[in-house]
Order: sequence, then structure tokens, then C-alpha cells
Amino acid sequence: MEPAPAWAQANPELSAWLEGLSDEACDDYEQHLNALAARISGWLPGLADYEQRIAVPVLSDSPATLAGTTLPEVAATDMPGRKRLQAGAFAASVLPLNRPVLDWCCGKGHLSRTLARQCPEPVQGFEWDAALVADGNRLARQFADTVTLHCQDVMAENLPWPADTHGVALHACGDLHRQLMRRGSAAGAPRLSLSPCCYHLSADADYQPLSAQANEHPQALRLSRNELRLAVQETVTAPARVRAQTALVSQWRLGFDALQRHLRGCDEYLPVPSHPPRLVNEGFEAFCRWAAGKKQLELPDRVDWDQWLDAGSQRFRQVRRHELLRHLFRRPLELWLVLDYAVFLEEQGYRVRLGTFCDRSMTPRNLLLDAVRACDTPPAPRNHP
Ligand SMILES: C[S@@+](CC[C@H](N)C(=O)[O-])C[C@H]1O[C@@H](n2cnc3c(N)ncnc32)[C@H](O)[C@@H]1O
Repeated sequence: MEPAPAWAQANPELSAWLEGLSDEACDDYEQHLNALAARISGWLPGLADYEQRIAVPVLSDSPATLAGTTLPEVAATDMPGRKRLQAGAFAASVLPLNRPVLDWCCGKGHLSRTLARQCPEPVQGFEWDAALVADGNRLARQFADTVTLHCQDVMAENLPWPADTHGVALHACGDLHRQLMRRGSAAGAPRLSLSPCCYHLSADADYQPLSAQANEHPQALRLSRNELRLAVQETVTAPARVRAQTALVSQWRLGFDALQRHLRGCDEYLPVPSHPPRLVNEGFEAFCRWAAGKKQLELPDRVDWDQWLDAGSQRFRQVRRHELLRHLFRRPLELWLVLDYAVFLEEQGYRVRLGTFCDRSMTPRNLLLDAVRACDTPPAPRNHP
């Protein structure tokens, strides 16, 4: 949005160093953010101990436990390979299970069916999409799993929380996982285990921390929904073809942005909505004509498309380097949010473990909060540290 952001003006040496990086160095630093933090800590001293600040424990990394908790492929009908492994790793990190389980926003119940095989008590799931519920119940019957999914809007005012039940959620987005923590703790759930994602998906434009401690802290971050997006801005799991396509369209968007600034005589970013996928095959000019139509911008008869595409490529080069700096703050921001959740759960009377349940190559959303009501017997560690 900003070719000359305020931080670049306030840190001209840092900005010049970043913009002078080669493409190879950019790729390398993107893969090794710890090295980038160390390199630029001379300019931003707070980054000196970056690696330690973002380190969290691994909750379960025992191959034997994982092998036992991951659904065998023959039982993983309709389950994408990555989801099967994620659900298995989630299960390995929350063993032992000793209460009935409620899978919050369960989709087809992949996690439910995975946990059911580790849990002596029944597992139920809440999901509002009736087709997913029907499919999930059919799969549970087919594989004789003790799982029942219910059609339920989890944001409903009068939501029933089943008595003495352990709430779990794998990648329920934003308000949905926050509702699990609020609802579950208010109902006195004995345990809540969740891996959050899409923090920015919220009905509120400004993020309101959950914990009293963060709300009362004079230096608490005040974050907009848009700023929260940074916490999940990462495509480590996207295939190379998708990443190449995203890079191409980013250049087109930035080329159009340069063109629209020129035509309107106004040096301001103009947000352009998502484009129809067909445009990817139609080239830069078609993209600009579509975007101009969306923004009611009249294009002149003659446009030097090569010139604006070139401007887009130049900006893309700069944006990549600026993003590199942004990306350094991705995990710290995510940890700040999740630590706020942890403190909130502690304030509600839980003892909380926070760590990763799988490697980030399986999913970058690999944090897990596991909260046990303090008056409850803690789950004895079994087969894992
Ligand atoms: C990202 S998916 C995660 C699904 C599942 N936990 C998994 O990991 O496979 C989020 C799910 O939440 C469901 N969902 C969204 N809003 C909901 C609501 N208000 N009540 C119940 N389910 C909801 C969606 O239909 C979707 O299946």
C-alpha cells in the first residue's frame, strides 16, 4: 500500500540494506528468519534474542506415539493427507483423554474420528454445515467410530455445553476459537485444547484482547483486524506453482496500482477486490481493464502496458524486501495473541500448556493451547515428555 512506509523513512539505513538484497538473499532470509533478525538487530536491538523469544516447547514428537494416534490411510476416507497427519499429531499432544470430547467446528469430523480411537468416552462434534455433518456421521458409522456430529451454530446464544466435556478445536478460525474459550470456560469445561488459526476472522474491526491482564496493560498492543492478518501471512505449504502464480498477479496488481495513481493524479493506494481465476491466463492488460472496470476508472485509448508492467515488477521487488521485515514480526505477533489466550484461560482457573503439536512444514498454524481446570487431576504424561 505504501511505496515509502513510515518505518523506512525512520530507518533509512535498514531500508537501504533491505532494498539492496539480491533475490537469492531474500529467498534465503525468508527461510531463515532467525539469521535475518540477527543481521538487523544492529538497527533494531529488540531483535537480538529473537530466536529465544519465539521458542516454544514441542508438545509431542515421539514417532511411536504419532504412529499410534494417526488414522491409518485405509480409515482416512475423504481426509486430505495433511489433515490426517495434523489430526494425528494433535491427538498425540493431548493424550491421555479421559473425558467425553466435543470437537468444535468439526467439519467432517476428521479430528473427532482420530480422537475417538484414543478416548474411552464418546466424542461429539459441532458443525453448522449440514452436508459435512451428514458425511461425517456416515464415515463414523462406516468405520464404527464412537462419534456423533451435530448440526450446530457454535456462535448461538443458547448453545448447550455438554456436562463435564473436554472441548477441542483444530483450526477453528478467529471468533470461533475465541468462542470456544469463552463458552467452554464459562461452562466449567474440565479441559480445553485448541490449535487456533485465522486470528483476523472476526466480527470486530478492532481486536479486543481476551485477558484482563492484556486489557489493563498500559503497553498492550492495539491491533486492527487488518494487522492481525500478519500473524497468518505465510504460504509455506503452497505448492511452487501456486506461489509463482501469486507472485505474477502481485506484479500485475502493483502495476495497476502505479497506473491508477498516475491516472487519478493521486498518490494513494486503491484496494482492488479478488480477481476471477480466469484472468490469470489473460495477461496484464486484461487484468488492468478488469480492475479499472471494478473501480470505475476510465482508461485512456493508449496505454504503454510494458511501462506499467515494469513499474509493477519494480514495486514487487521492493515489496518483497519490505515483507521480509514484516515477516519477522509474524510469529511474535501470533505468540502475543496466543499468550493472551493462555492468560485468559489462567484467569478462568485453568493451568495451561502452550507449545507446537507438529512441525511447521505440516501446517504453519502449529501452536496448541492445552488448558486443564486447576481443580481437575492433570493428565499424566504418557509416552511423551
Ligand atoms: C477451517 S474448518 C476446520 C474443520 C476441522 N476442525 C478440521 O480441522 O478439519 C472450520 C469449520 O468451521 C465450520 N464453521 C464455521 N462457522 C461455524 C459456526 N458458526 N458454527 C459451527 N461451525 C462453523 C466450517 O463450516 C468449517 O467446517
